[in-house]
Amino acid sequence: MVDRITPDPYPWKREYESDNRLYDAQTRKFLEIINMMKELVATGVDKEGISRVFFQLIYYFEEYMLREEIYLTELGYDNLEAHKGDHRDFTKRIIAFREGFEKGEKGFEKEMYLYLEKWFDEHMMIYDRKAANFILERQ
Ligand SMILES: [Fe+2]
Repeated sequence: MVDRITPDPYPWKREYESDNRLYDAQTRKFLEIINMMKELVATGVDKEGISRVFFQLIYYFEEYMLREEIYLTELGYDNLEAHKGDHRDFTKRIIAFREGFEKGEKGFEKEMYLYLEKWFDEHMMIYDRKAANFILERQ
C-alpha cells in the first residue's frame, strides 16, 4: 500500500504503446483518469473532481471497454468470457465506489485510486494487450 501519494502525474511511457491504435487511445485515456484521481487524492478531494472522474470512467467504459468486447466477439476470441468477466468485476466495483460517493462516504478515494492503478497494471497491460494483439492479427 502506498502511504504517500504525490499529485505529480504519471508520464506516458513507450512501453505502454502497441501497434493497435484503439488500445493506445484507451491506455492514454485511462492514464489520464488515474492522474486526475492521483491529484485529487494528493491535494484534497472535492465533489466536482470526483464527479468528473466518474464521468470519464463512463466514457472509458462506453468508448473502449464495450468496443473491445464487440471486436473480440466478432473475431471469436477464445478468452472472451474471462475477459468480459473482468470487465463486469471492474464496472461493479466502480458502481460500488460511486454509490459510496453518493451516500457521502468518506475515505474511499484512496482505495479507488489504488484500484484504478491495479486495473491499469493487471488488466490493461496484460489482458488488454493480449486482446489488442489478437485483434491486430485478425484484421
Ligand atoms: Fe479489457
